[in-house]
Amino acid sequence: MIQNNQKSVIIGFGHALPSYQIDNHYFEGFLDTTDSWIKSRTGISKRQFALPALGETNVTLSTQAAKNAIASAGINVSDIDFIIGGTLSSDETMPSMACRVQAALGLKDIFAFDLSAACSGFLFGLGVADRFLKSGTHKTGLVIGTEILSSFINLRDRSTAVLFGDGSGAAIIQSCEGEDIPSFWSEMASDGNYADLLWIPAGNSKIPPTDPTFSYANAKVVMRGNELFKVAVRCMKQSILKCLEKSGTTIDQIDLLVTHQANERIIDKLQEELGFPKEKVVKKLEFVGNTSAASIPIACSMAAEEKQLTSGSLVMSASFGGGLNYGACLFPVRFKGDS
Ligand code: ACO
Repeated sequence: MIQNNQKSVIIGFGHALPSYQIDNHYFEGFLDTTDSWIKSRTGISKRQFALPALGETNVTLSTQAAKNAIASAGINVSDIDFIIGGTLSSDETMPSMACRVQAALGLKDIFAFDLSAACSGFLFGLGVADRFLKSGTHKTGLVIGTEILSSFINLRDRSTAVLFGDGSGAAIIQSCEGEDIPSFWSEMASDGNYADLLWIPAGNSKIPPTDPTFSYANAKVVMRGNELFKVAVRCMKQSILKCLEKSGTTIDQIDLLVTHQANERIIDKLQEELGFPKEKVVKKLEFVGNTSAASIPIACSMAAEEKQLTSGSLVMSASFGGGLNYGACLFPVRFKGDS
């Protein structure tokens, strides 16, 4: 374990959403579903889909979210020492979204990479960033979660088509010293035995588009939603409890719970099982759907805009996603100029 006084703190959030809004009624036109089913079973009312023809891509949204986070943190672009991207829907297989964003921000000679952890991509990104900061080798990191899931939705499958949206969220994480700042703590875990609860079977090297078994349906998200629901609650709860125990924090010290915004019923069940106060739970999926790796930073950024998340907040965050990858992250927030 690293033994020094360095702590990590989030100093800025930003997000960017595409312009094309899709409400639940859109799906009623071609799927056996209703607005009321979607709202009551998921909590989602609308989501945004990116239109590449309008210049809305994974990289342009990521860059905008990054710029918003940099502005929110009140730092210079040149202060950034590294970029970590979390995405399963990058514009290109190579290079990474993070390298494209680095170039768009005019940065050179810093490292930039994407990590593959599906919906947990942003949270795992924070965990990795924290280790770099605590080691003392780097001071300021940009962590981005972005998805263009509209490209991976099977519009013939009502159990998945209605869930996902596009967007990007970003955070600036910085190392600092100070007795008064609570510890940053992150827990990351995986269980590959659950890989087929949520996956995209085709479209990569094993079943490329030229393979005879390739089809529209198997190149899109395939999910066993019911089983995933139970696993999600169990894994996030376990990660949060570990995070609390290892960081020596109690639930009453937490100001906000911001979990992966997949389904309102999952968030409610987790909140109930933890005995966490309802009024401290952040829910933004109603307006954006499930944006996978982008969901936590978008929710934090929206909460900051609405002054629900403020400087001084201690946030508990948790996620689950394809892999299965899951975890929790406890992070303090300090915005520039605020105490
Ligand atoms: N409209 C109407 N009916 C639907 C729809 C829909 N959009 N989708 C499914 N149904 C039907 C099913 O076909 C089923 O019908 P049947 O009983 O005739 O077979 C019925 O509703 C119940 O199906 P369930 O899957 O049990 O529905 P449930 O209430 O569990 O809700 C959901 C489905 C929302 C996907 C839920 O299982 C869930 O939240 N799972 C967790 C996984 C999740 O959130 N995934 C999001 C992505 S994962 C991630 O972000 C990491």
